[in-house]
Amino acid sequence: MSSAAVEKKTKSAAKPAALKTPITEMFGVKYPIVCAPMFLVSTVNMVAAACEAGGIGTFPALNFRPIENYHQAIKDIKAKTDKAFGINIIVQKSNKYQQQQMEIALEERVPLLITSLGKPGEIIKLAHEVGTKVFCDVISLDHAKKVADLGADGLIAVGSGAGGHAGDISPFALIPTLVSEIGLPVMASGSIADGKGMAAAFSLGADAAYVGTRFIASTEAEVDDAYKNAIVDAGSDDIVNTHRVDGFPGNFIMTDALKRVGLEDGLMETVLSKSKKIKKWIALSRAAKSLFAKPDGKVSYKTVFSAGHGSGLIHEVKSIEAIMNDMVREYREIKKNLP
Ligand SMILES: Cc1cc2nc3c(=O)[nH]c(=O)nc-3n(C[C@H](O)[C@H](O)[C@H](O)COP(=O)(O)O)c2cc1C
Repeated sequence: MSSAAVEKKTKSAAKPAALKTPITEMFGVKYPIVCAPMFLVSTVNMVAAACEAGGIGTFPALNFRPIENYHQAIKDIKAKTDKAFGINIIVQKSNKYQQQQMEIALEERVPLLITSLGKPGEIIKLAHEVGTKVFCDVISLDHAKKVADLGADGLIAVGSGAGGHAGDISPFALIPTLVSEIGLPVMASGSIADGKGMAAAFSLGADAAYVGTRFIASTEAEVDDAYKNAIVDAGSDDIVNTHRVDGFPGNFIMTDALKRVGLEDGLMETVLSKSKKIKKWIALSRAAKSLFAKPDGKVSYKTVFSAGHGSGLIHEVKSIEAIMNDMVREYREIKKNLP
């Protein structure tokens, strides 16, 4: 396939009408589309563009370091948009900035916090005192029950095929299970790249589309063109799942850089990882390398590209506004024409 990362001029068609779900009501936004938090990808401009386009922009707190830059990023987003936005905080000891990230977000009255990993009980309690909503990433029913018991306002169902650290369960099974068993609002994450995916997610009971990879191939994404081109050129079968990049299984585009890293462990790693402690150490040291590696380092999010199976549905780079408008229009068309 030819490299199609040529910016397409945004059509000047009228903006689609608002779409109402419990999540658009909760955050006062026009469309139930979240520009998902992406490590080393989400920027102030992307978040603001997603909010101004009618969705909810979000970013991982760790994208801005040191902590002063994180605080400044929140202020910069607020200067660019008065709409609801969200921050993803990793709730685990490995995130040593966790407490400060949470305190600043709550002081700034950020409308949405998204938690990954760990036990989000304290964040939920403190967030509720200032009116901030907390949605938790979950990959299974068990996991969802735990965060629901802790008082989460909603769930992010991270299904197989998502960019980043995907779950193992197909969204076709995960979303309806969470909807019927938990009863909280659900954002659907994993391979949603157009109105067809959005229609499918809503049919399964989701209340919002939580979209990552599609927004990397956007005009506003401040990543290398090579990354955008790789997504545009990739088919779904070019996405591989490996733990070799940062120690945890994640979805990546099979590029030459990833081939050099390799998908499988060597004999030594296999033997060493039989011990739980050593296995954890290997994973954490890979994660640290990936977080802090220099751009020319061997294993890093900067040299290999994470993306979901939905890459196969992405054929051009468009503005964030065009992506959202096209998704909503296509969703409505599909809904109208369903048998
Ligand atoms: C490059 C990349 C980085 C990501 N980083 C994070 C992250 O820091 N925190 C997080 O909760 N999810 C992260 N994700 C997952 C996304 O938030 C979202 O769940 C996922 O991209 C949805 O699947 P999709 O890419 O198929 O649309 C990342 C995804 C990608 C592609």
